[in-house]
Amino acid sequence: MCGIVGYTGKDDAKRIIVDGLKRLEYRGYDSAGIALLVDGKLVVLKKKGKIRELESEVTCLDLVSHTGIGHTRWATHGHPTEENAHPHTDCRGEIAVVHNGVIENYMTLKEELLRKGHRFKSDTDTEVVAHLIEEERNVCSDFFEAFLRAVRKLKGSYALAVITTESPDKVFIARKDSPLVVGLGDGENFVASDIPAFLPYTNRVIFLEDFEAGIVESDCVTVTDFNGERKEKKPVTVPWSLAQAEKAGYKHFMLKEIFEQPRAIADTISGNLPWLRGESEIEGLELDGIKRIQIVACGTSYHAGLVGKFYFENLTRIPTEVDYASEYRYRNPVVDENTLVVSITQSGETADTLAAMRLAKEKGARLLTICNVIGSTATREADAVLYTYAGPEISVASTKAFTTQLTVLLMLSIFLAKVTGRDEGTEDLLSQLLQIPSKVEEFLRLEKESERVKKIALDLYRVKNMLYLGRHVNYPIALEGALKLKEISYIHAEGYPAGEMKHGPIALIDETVPVVVVATKGRVYEKVLSNLEEVKSRKGKVVAVTNEGCREVKEKSEFVIEVPEVEEFISPIVNVIPLQLFAYYIADFLGYDVDQPRNLAKSVTVE
Ligand code: M6R
Repeated sequence: MCGIVGYTGKDDAKRIIVDGLKRLEYRGYDSAGIALLVDGKLVVLKKKGKIRELESEVTCLDLVSHTGIGHTRWATHGHPTEENAHPHTDCRGEIAVVHNGVIENYMTLKEELLRKGHRFKSDTDTEVVAHLIEEERNVCSDFFEAFLRAVRKLKGSYALAVITTESPDKVFIARKDSPLVVGLGDGENFVASDIPAFLPYTNRVIFLEDFEAGIVESDCVTVTDFNGERKEKKPVTVPWSLAQAEKAGYKHFMLKEIFEQPRAIADTISGNLPWLRGESEIEGLELDGIKRIQIVACGTSYHAGLVGKFYFENLTRIPTEVDYASEYRYRNPVVDENTLVVSITQSGETADTLAAMRLAKEKGARLLTICNVIGSTATREADAVLYTYAGPEISVASTKAFTTQLTVLLMLSIFLAKVTGRDEGTEDLLSQLLQIPSKVEEFLRLEKESERVKKIALDLYRVKNMLYLGRHVNYPIALEGALKLKEISYIHAEGYPAGEMKHGPIALIDETVPVVVVATKGRVYEKVLSNLEEVKSRKGKVVAVTNEGCREVKEKSEFVIEVPEVEEFISPIVNVIPLQLFAYYIADFLGYDVDQPRNLAKSVTVE
């Protein structure tokens, strides 16, 4: 959603902050702004729309600044206007604030501040923070103390970065329920809501936790609790490179990330093999007495969870439920100390997923998270963590995060099968999983040469509706294919279990509604074939994802995408890739901003 960048150090703050904001563009935003400390004064610039508007004005500024903060705003309170863009300032123009999250008690605070004579310039919840610090500064001798007093009065979620003319080389920070990271440089330090913002300069970071605040200076970082008690924080080195966070010649991050999947899957396998082979332990994972598994996740991660259910139940016979994290806490789930709750989240910051985890913990469940971002909130709150090694995923539409989540889920279920003494056949499954990076590589290489998926997308990109069908372990792949198409091309698409079609959605089918069918070899192949017949007899155009040798499918389909034949359980990892590419090319042909689809944000940090 919104993005924060802060800097203090020897270099040009305005260049570094604007550059950092550009690296956070993928989070989604509708306005952007920057505040700089220049010769003891605040200079604030804000612009509606894209960062390039802000950048062209900032570049023209003839000034030198070594400390500043910047923000990309995704409107919640107040329209996306210049006045409502961050940073917000106090009455005297001496304090500037950027904020991610929602200040829930802002109306009460605002009324009080208005009574005390403060003048507001925006409709945002954030502006109260600037006035509140100004007010507190009147009653205490030190700015940081005033900042902490203000923070203690806030209710809701916030990541805050604040600068003030009275301490021109410091950035003040605080966090509750919204991510904030400090990047440690050499004679310079950074603050950001996301690591890619400062990745060109450093990958050594300090993760701020909830109820922590701090002062960032060029040569030191002080972290305290909200009462000012000092806290020791250990810096962490994040194994992400700058190249991973750049487009590297690809037109879009999404396309680059699709093509990165062979490497991402291979890294995920090798990163997790030690515990699967018994050479290490999954730290914090206590499995004794586990009677059921509950998976909680949102969006694409939820679809990975649906595949995970097949894995867990088939390989371990442990009953497994999958919940949308946003629903979980409202359904009064049956969960206790014998439940293993597995949360799946690329970012580790999705508010709904974190809330589901907290509820499960409260009820005594054991928490395992599958996550891509080291040090994120989910990884700190779970009892045990399994990482996907996908590298930074910048495009809003999740691709490599998904296939690496499936990889970890399969490895985890093999591990649980071994633990529960049901390991027959698992070695074979594992050795087939090890082949997957090269199979995916092969598919992507052929696609580059033949442009098969791209050509089908060119034929179909003008349609208004599409149906995606799959069965068994590939039913979630139909859901994921439809989600990909919806989110970046704005074409209405529905995913359905192929066998369910005759109970309703079949009414939608005619010659104008292409039907994408995942029809690869496996135990339901024949069944899918009959579903495909049902589509054909309603004049539906079939796009089939199938294997070499599936003659019957090919004969009945207008468009055929051949994928390598792999073990059925592993097939979702391969079968989803053409669907990702199909959605990508359609969105690109339609001329949409693939990496930043409308109304969407990369990590959804509000409920
Ligand atoms: O970071 P998370 O995995 O928790 O995010 C969950 C969803 O918001 C995310 O997967 C979303 O559905 C993606 N935009 C899908 O491409």
